[in-house]
Amino acid sequence: MPFIREAIVVTLDHRDRPHVAPLGLIERGDLVVIAPFRPSTTLANLERRPFASACYTDEVRVFAGCVTGRRRDWPVVPTERIPGFRLAACLAHDELEVVAVEPDALRPRFLCRVVHTAQHAPFKGLNRARFAVIEAAILLSRRRLLPSAEIEEGFARLRPLVDKTAGEAEREAWDWLEKARAESPDEPR
Ligand SMILES: Cc1cc2nc3c(=O)[nH]c(=O)nc-3n(C[C@H](O)[C@H](O)[C@H](O)COP(=O)(O)O)c2cc1C
Repeated sequence: MPFIREAIVVTLDHRDRPHVAPLGLIERGDLVVIAPFRPSTTLANLERRPFASACYTDEVRVFAGCVTGRRRDWPVVPTERIPGFRLAACLAHDELEVVAVEPDALRPRFLCRVVHTAQHAPFKGLNRARFAVIEAAILLSRRRLLPSAEIEEGFARLRPLVDKTAGEAEREAWDWLEKARAESPDEPR
């Protein structure tokens, strides 16, 4: 299995406004692969404008805010070498240009070269509550594909990590996820 890095991807929409979405970026040698399931705004944006920034952040409210729809208007600043934007609150980011597309009816793959990399803030170590928020955000983003019992079990397993190790930001992110889970108990299609 390839190494996958959970990142915030910023693309340009049809009006050249930033679109912020969490995605798992697949490492393939020197290339970074973006693999959005259809339908997806990120996918449509990449087909139109083949550039994206991959933002590496410890601000987990961005992940939770996007998947719950609670907040998507995260501050961004212009990118340096590609048309577009990056998340303002990221520790580092890569600027990506799509160099090839592997078509697929369900999940096409956009193969990107790294045009530019920059660091903005120090990384201050790992945290279990942040991990729990990322895991729960992924579970919630798949709520139409997974049985609701599996999602509830996942949240129950992850909740103690938040209780034991969260700061204010992680607690707020977790609350958004819990509320969204309670409000939309979708069964798999
Ligand atoms: C950590 C994390 C990783 C994700 N990775 C992917 C991914 O690789 N592909 C995908 O289609 N959706 C992924 N999702 C779900 C997307 O964020 C979600 O489906 C989103 O709505 C798609 O982006 P859009 O806003 O461009 O439509 C991920 C969610 C999280 C929280």
